[in-house]
Amino acid sequence: MTRPSFVLLGLLPVLSLALASREFYIDYDNNQFVKDGAPFKYVSGSFHYFRTPSVYWRDRLRKMKQGGLNAVSTYVEWRSHEKVSGQYDFSGDLDLENFIKIAQEEELLVILRPGPYICAERELGGLPSWLLNVNPEMQLRTRDPEYMGFVRRWFQVLFTRLEPYFYGKDGPIIMVQVENEYGSYFACDSEYLNQLRDIIKSHVGDSAVLFTTDGSAASLLKCGKIDDVYATVDFGPGTNVELAFNEMIKFEPRGPLVNSEFYPGWLDHWGEEHSTVNTVNIIQTLEWMFKYNASVNFYVYYGGTNFGFTSGANYNDHYAPQPTSYDYDAPLTEAGDPTPKYMAIRAAANSYLQQVPSKEVPVASRKGYYGRMNLKFLSSIFDLIPTAPQVNSDYPLSFEELNQDEGFVLYKTVITKCHNDPALLVAKNIGDRGYVFVNKERAGVLSRINFIDSLPVSANTGDELEILVENQGRINYGRKLKDFKGLLSNVTIDNNELKYWKMIQLPFGHNGTELRAINKKISSLKAETQLPIEMIYESVKSGLEPTASTPSIFWAEFRIPNNSHPPLDTFLDMKGWSKGIAFINGFNLGRYWPRVGPQRTLYLPGSLLNANSVNRLVIIEFDRVPRGCMSSKHRDCAVVLSDTAVLDDSCLTRKKSVLAAT
Ligand SMILES: *[C@@H]1O[C@H](CO)[C@@H](O)[C@H](O)[C@H]1NC(C)=O
Ligand SMILES: *[C@@H]1O[C@H](CO)[C@@H](O)[C@H](O)[C@H]1NC(C)=O
Ligand SMILES: *[C@@H]1O[C@H](CO)[C@@H](O)[C@H](O)[C@H]1NC(C)=O
Ligand SMILES: *[C@@H]1O[C@H](CO)[C@@H](O)[C@H](O)[C@H]1NC(C)=O
Repeated sequence: MTRPSFVLLGLLPVLSLALASREFYIDYDNNQFVKDGAPFKYVSGSFHYFRTPSVYWRDRLRKMKQGGLNAVSTYVEWRSHEKVSGQYDFSGDLDLENFIKIAQEEELLVILRPGPYICAERELGGLPSWLLNVNPEMQLRTRDPEYMGFVRRWFQVLFTRLEPYFYGKDGPIIMVQVENEYGSYFACDSEYLNQLRDIIKSHVGDSAVLFTTDGSAASLLKCGKIDDVYATVDFGPGTNVELAFNEMIKFEPRGPLVNSEFYPGWLDHWGEEHSTVNTVNIIQTLEWMFKYNASVNFYVYYGGTNFGFTSGANYNDHYAPQPTSYDYDAPLTEAGDPTPKYMAIRAAANSYLQQVPSKEVPVASRKGYYGRMNLKFLSSIFDLIPTAPQVNSDYPLSFEELNQDEGFVLYKTVITKCHNDPALLVAKNIGDRGYVFVNKERAGVLSRINFIDSLPVSANTGDELEILVENQGRINYGRKLKDFKGLLSNVTIDNNELKYWKMIQLPFGHNGTELRAINKKISSLKAETQLPIEMIYESVKSGLEPTASTPSIFWAEFRIPNNSHPPLDTFLDMKGWSKGIAFINGFNLGRYWPRVGPQRTLYLPGSLLNANSVNRLVIIEFDRVPRGCMSSKHRDCAVVLSDTAVLDDSCLTRKKSVLAAT
C-alpha cells in the first residue's frame, strides 16, 4: 500500500507541548493519532456493559487491561435505557457512567458507540420497539422527523450525562462513533448522518474524535462516510489487510489506519453449529495490521449474555434468531474466563504497544457444581391467564399495537363456523412461533424460522382456539429491520377469517406480573403444606400432573452450600428439556432450546444467587415436558447446576456422532 508520508513541519502541533495535558486528535500529516502530544495507537476490545451484571464489570475490564489492551469499546443500547418512551434508566446494570469510571480506574480508554442503532445481535438492533407502535410507517435510521425527534430527545439525555467523560474533559472517552455500519443499510440517507453528526458534535466538540465504521469495501463506505467524521473499516481474520485498508484510504487518504471490528470469534444462530475462529489466523491477520501501525478493536473481546429476551435475529434468506449466550468464541468466555486465544493476543498486543506484560496473569474463576435440582410441577401457563392483562379486538393485534415489547401473547377465540375435519388453519406472517391449541390440546406449532404458517386442525363450532405466540427476537440487521411481532395477518380456517380475539399478555420480564403470580402460588403451596421443600415434592402431586405438550411451569428451591460463599458462577444444564425460559430469583436468564442447540447450558452468574437464603428456580417449558417430569413421583424431573458450559451441542453436531456410530 502506498501512502504519502511527507511531514509539514510548519503544521506540526507545536501547541501540544505547551498544553500537553489532555488532548486527543488525528494528526493527518503523520497518519497517526496523537494523545497528549505523543503518537498513539490502540488495541481495544468490545465489551457491552448491558450484557454483564455490573458487579463483574471491574473484573472483566481488569482482565482486558491484563490482556494487553489499552482501550475498551462499548455500544450504548437505547432500548434498555428507554424501555418506556420518555422514561430513562441508568441504574444498576445500566449505569453507563459507572462503567466508564471503572474503565478509567482500570487504566483503559473508552471508545463509545452510542448508535442510536447498534446492531450487536440485539433486539431491533438496540432501538426501542415502541418506535414501531408510535408510527408503524416511521422510517428508522433516516431523516424522518418523527424518528429524529426521538433520537434527539434520547441523545440529549445521554450526552448530557456523558459530557464530563470525554478525553478533553479529563475523561477516558477518546472516540465516539456516529451511527453503525450505515453503509450496509439500504437507505443511504446522508442528511440523516449529517444531522446525527451535528447533534453528537454539539456535545463532544473537540474533546474526542468522531468516527464511522463500515465494511471494508468502497460500495459500503460510500453511504457510511460522513463529512468531517473519520471513516474506519471492519474486517476479520483471513482478510487481505492491504486490500482492506486500501478501501479505507480511498475515503481517508490521510490519518491512522483503523479496524473498528476485528472478529476473534463469531455469532451463533439457534439451530446452527457453534461458531469458532482459529487463533493462528487471528494472530496472523492481527500482526499484518500491526505492520501498518493500525489501531484495532476486537469485536467482541468479551461477549457476555443476552439475558431475558434481549437477543436479536438476522434475516438473509430466512429468519434466524440468535441464542442467549453471546460467548462468541471470544478471548474471554461468556463467564469472563481467559482462553488460549486471550494469551496469544496478550503477547501480540504487549509487544505491539511496547508494554511490559502485567505481572498478574488471569486464570479461570472457580465454577460451582451445585448438582441436580429436583423440579416440581406447579401448573400449566394457562393458569396465569386470570392475572394477566387482556385486550379484546375483532381482529388480532400485534405486540406493538398492544404496546408489548417482549415475551408472549396468547391469542384466543372461539370457533363459530362449521369446518371440515381436519381443516386448514392459516396464520400468515406470524412473528415468530405459535403454539396452537384446540380446547387446550396442542394441534401443532407455527414457525417463521421454518416457513410453517399453516397446519391441519380439528376445530368446529364452539371449540376454543388458542395460539401462544413468542417474539423470538426482532431483526437487528439489514433491510427487514422493522420487525413486528404477533399475529400480523388475519387467521383463517378453511379460508374463513376468525374474529373476536382475546389477547392475553405474558411478557415474562424480570420479576414481572407472571413471576409474581407464580411466586404467590409457590408461597401458598409451601404455607399450606408446612413441609420441608423435599417433602412438598412428594406430597403435592395428585391431580397436578403436566401433560406432554402443554406449556408448564416447574420450580425448585435450593441453598448454596456453606463452603461455597459467596456463590460461584454456575451453568444451568437444560439437557433433556425442549424449549423455554428459566428464572433465578425472579431474574430471567433467557431462552433455552437444546432441541436445536447449539447452546445447551444457560450461564448463571453467582451474583444472582443468595448465599444465606433459599434460591428459587422457575423453569417454563413451552414445547415438550420431559418424560421424567410426567411420572407420578417426578423422580427424573430435574436440571443440573453444572460447572461446565456446553455451547456446541447442536443437532448437526449430534448428527455427526449418530452417523459415526452407525
Ligand atoms: C509505523 O510507525 C513507525 C514508527 O513511528 C514508522 O517508522 C513506520 O514507518 C510506520 N510504518 C508505516 C507502514 O506507516
Ligand atoms: C383483518 O381483516 C379485517 C377485515 O377484513 C381488516 O380490516 C383487517 O385489517 C385485517 N387485519 C389484518 C391484521 O390483516
Ligand atoms: C450452614 O448454614 C446454615 C444457616 O446459615 C446452618 O444452619 C447450618 O448449620 C450450616 N451448616 C454447616 C454444615 O455449617
Ligand atoms: C427481583 O425481586 C427481588 C426481590 O424483591 C430483588 O431482590 C431482585 O433484585 C429483583 N430482580 C430484578 C432483576 O429485578
